[in-house]
Amino acid sequence: MSASSATLEIRGVTRRFGKNTAVSDINVSIPRGQMVGIIGRSGAGKSTLLRMINRLIDPSQGSIFFDGAEVSSLHGSPLRRWQRDCAMIFQQFNLVPRLDVLTNVLLGRLNHRSTVSNLLGMFTHTECAEAVAALERLDIARTALQPAGTLSGGQQQRVAIARAMMQQPKVLLADEPIASLDPLNAKVVMDSLRDINLREGITVVTNLHTLDTARAYCNRIIGMAAGKVVFDGAPEDLDRDAVRTVYGADASGADISEAITSTSVTIKPKIIASAGPLEPAFPGY
Ligand SMILES: Nc1ncnc2c1ncn2[C@@H]1O[C@H](COP(=O)(O)OP(=O)(O)O)[C@@H](O)[C@H]1O
Ligand SMILES: [Mg+2]
Repeated sequence: MSASSATLEIRGVTRRFGKNTAVSDINVSIPRGQMVGIIGRSGAGKSTLLRMINRLIDPSQGSIFFDGAEVSSLHGSPLRRWQRDCAMIFQQFNLVPRLDVLTNVLLGRLNHRSTVSNLLGMFTHTECAEAVAALERLDIARTALQPAGTLSGGQQQRVAIARAMMQQPKVLLADEPIASLDPLNAKVVMDSLRDINLREGITVVTNLHTLDTARAYCNRIIGMAAGKVVFDGAPEDLDRDAVRTVYGADASGADISEAITSTSVTIKPKIIASAGPLEPAFPGY
C-alpha cells in the first residue's frame, strides 16, 4: 500500500434525524497514517460522523470513499469487509462481559472466517497466539482467562483495542475512548492508540471530549460545531479564537478550561509494545 493510497474521503456528507441535521455537508480527506482527533461540544455530530464512516448508520446525503472505492454504498460481504477494515472502539468498551478476555479478543477475528468455522467455534493455534500477543502488547495478558466484566475500565478498553487489532484493520475509529476512564488509564489507552498509529501506520480517527488530549496525541484536529467542521488543522493552529469557534462564543472561560484540562496527564509516556523503535513523543507533550 503506498502512502498516497488508502485515503479516507468524506464528500458532502449530511445526516438528518427527522428535522434535526446531526451532520451537515462535511468534506474531509484523511490520508493513511494520520492520527486525527475530532473535538466539539456534546451534540456537535462527532459520533454520528464516526458511525457513518464504518456504516453503523448511513448518510442522508453524500458519499464516503476509502482507497478510491465508495464504502457508503456497500452491501453484503463487501460491507462486512469494510467493517473489518475499519475497526471501532467505544466509550463503553462493548465487550461480552461473561466471556473471558481471550475469547473477546478472538471475536475480532470472526469476520475473517467462514460461517462454518465460526459455527464450529474453533480458533486456530495461530489465532490464539496472535490474540495473546495482542494482549501482551497491551500489557494485560495476565487477564486472558478472566471474564471481561471483572476487569477495570482501563483494562476493558485495552481488551477492546486488542479485539480491534485482531481485525487487522486499516482504519481504527474510537468514539470517546477515554471518557469513562481516570487520567492514568486514559493515558495508557491513548498511548496504545498512538503506538498502533506509529508502528503499524494505521489511520486513527478518535472523538475526544478534551482538548489537551487531542493536542497531545493527534497530528490533526478537526473541530465540529452544530454538525459542521469549523476547524481543521494542526494542533498548533488551534488558538484561542479557534477554540472559541469550536466550543461556541458563549462558552465561558470555565467551560473551555474544563474541556482543556479535565483529563490532563503529565506523566512521562510509557512504551507498551515490544517490537521496533518508537518515534519520539509529539512536540509539546
Ligand atoms: N439515533 C439518533 N436519533 C435521533 N437523533 C440522534 C441520533 N443520534 C444522534 N442524534 C442527534 O444528532 C445530534 C448529534 O449527535 P452526536 O453525533 O451523538 O453528537 P456528539 O457525538 O458530538 O455528542 C444530536 O442532536 C443528537 O441528539
Ligand atoms: Mg458522541
